Amino acid sequence: MTRSAPLSADALLADVLEGMGRTPKSLPCKYLYDARGSHLFDRITELEEYYPTATELAIMEAHLDEIVACLGPRCLLLEYGSGSSLKTRLLLDRLPEPAGYVAIDISEEHLSASMRHLQEMYSHIPMRAVPADYTTSFAVPSNGFDAARTVVYFPGSTIGNFEPREAHAFLARMARAAGPGGGLLIGVDLEKDRATVEAAYNDAQGVTAAFNKNLLRRMNRELGATFDPETFRHRAVYNLEEGRIEMSLVSACDQTVRVNGHHIRFEEGEPICVEYSYKFTLERFQGLAERAGFAVRNVWMDANRLFSVQYLTVL
Ligand code: AVJ
Repeated sequence: MTRSAPLSADALLADVLEGMGRTPKSLPCKYLYDARGSHLFDRITELEEYYPTATELAIMEAHLDEIVACLGPRCLLLEYGSGSSLKTRLLLDRLPEPAGYVAIDISEEHLSASMRHLQEMYSHIPMRAVPADYTTSFAVPSNGFDAARTVVYFPGSTIGNFEPREAHAFLARMARAAGPGGGLLIGVDLEKDRATVEAAYNDAQGVTAAFNKNLLRRMNRELGATFDPETFRHRAVYNLEEGRIEMSLVSACDQTVRVNGHHIRFEEGEPICVEYSYKFTLERFQGLAERAGFAVRNVWMDANRLFSVQYLTVL
């Protein structure tokens, strides 16, 4: 199995100190997904308020014949993010003669557990797990499969976590990974009313709050930092001008936190920006895709147009 270096404590420390030095303070959202964070995210996907997962799954189920027809026979499926989900299994169940399945994920533990499980369920499909931070460039090990075409699968509207410039670069990288004749099957969350979006990121049970606060616990655990999660409040606001929901952890008091010998001051009410989740119009996403080297071939949506699943081909 090919292995790329997983995230190191040094990289975390450097990113944390860099983010804490910014105004406003921020942290990269990729660090949300340690083992506990990945588990909390799975719980988010089951929440009543969190419409993206259930809606995307329903779209996939309703249009599966058309979707697998687009991907075609002897397709090598390259999934960015963890491949334990029902959506992946729908594809693996119905793809005609799949050439293989490669999953790339930042959370090594989560990845190996879900791959073991998938390989048991689909013993006839060659599989490979790649623990890697896919936001940085890494070698995609797509060699050794007898594939007619490579299709990148990027569900969940994770593309919404990137700011426009990064989203462009990342899409361009996926176009290169798919290569000539290849494609991208992607979940894209759509613009909608404020109440629906804000409820999805501010659930009544507080799972999203726990998910974001896990980042503080992770810094305590891995960097010996002294964050008290009780003194930060989770906040999620839909910024309509920017077309994104902005999640932050807001300090409830004036305080100083220590991270590896550095003293970091917080004022009461001061936010740490932890995550953006962009919501797209079809036009805006199409523009982004085209600039990155794709043509939008198919768009499938639910009746309420909450979410879309799109098939793009490499130009
Ligand atoms: C996995 C990035 C798509 O933005 O909806 C959900 C992450 N964060 N609730 C999203 C998330 C808080 C999720 N993505």
